[in-house]
Amino acid sequence: MGKVHVLDHPVIKHKITILRDKNTGSNEFRSIVTEIGMILAYEATKDLELEEFEVETPITRTTGYRLAGKKLSVVPILRAGLGMVDGVLEVIPAAKIGHIGMYRNEETLQPVEYYCKLPNDIEKREILVVDPMVATGGSVDDAVTRLKERGCKYIKLLCIIAAPEGIKLLSEKHPDVDIYCAQLDEHLNENGYIVPGLGDAGDRLFGTK
Ligand code: PRP
Ligand code: URA
Repeated sequence: MGKVHVLDHPVIKHKITILRDKNTGSNEFRSIVTEIGMILAYEATKDLELEEFEVETPITRTTGYRLAGKKLSVVPILRAGLGMVDGVLEVIPAAKIGHIGMYRNEETLQPVEYYCKLPNDIEKREILVVDPMVATGGSVDDAVTRLKERGCKYIKLLCIIAAPEGIKLLSEKHPDVDIYCAQLDEHLNENGYIVPGLGDAGDRLFGTK
């Protein structure tokens, strides 16, 4: 089973509460999703490889470090995943961006793919899939399966709120994918929404509804 890393931090709890509040508007919602995306990206890149080199400060020569491992790619699941991209890019500005468009059929809860455009060398990259919400886990399952079909081997998932149902599905189907999650919620309701959750992340980010 992949590791599930849940952020346990007072500032994150404070920010998630603002996201949950139905009176929070899109502007503030977007900024917080971006910020949490950045924090998750820091967590998920803790194991990146470094190489040493010598650097000259104004005072002396010393050992410096630069990132030396695989190149990275961020893959948002549209639409809501777009809200996390700018935050992730603050941490890894050189990452290439792939897009996978997916929406859930509201009756069957099955994901439907409508777009996929990935960097040509995606299979050589370490990939951070981003989507604020993991409910049944179906959308992420399909996106990760798509990436694996393209030969990708190093995949991590960054999400803001996950339901236990989604974590279970992903752990069973993709035990090689580590999950970085800001908040683990209680369960799904009869409509497949996360409880207590924050509602429909895409609608809240983009002001649709
Ligand atoms: C939301 C969310 C996830 C998906 C989660 O997207 O951003 O992609 O639902 O549900 P699942 O884990 O049960 O698959 P939605 O289908 O609402 O599309 P949108 O981002 O375009 O609003
Ligand atoms: N997608 C969302 O945006 N919110 C949920 O609670 C479940 C799926």
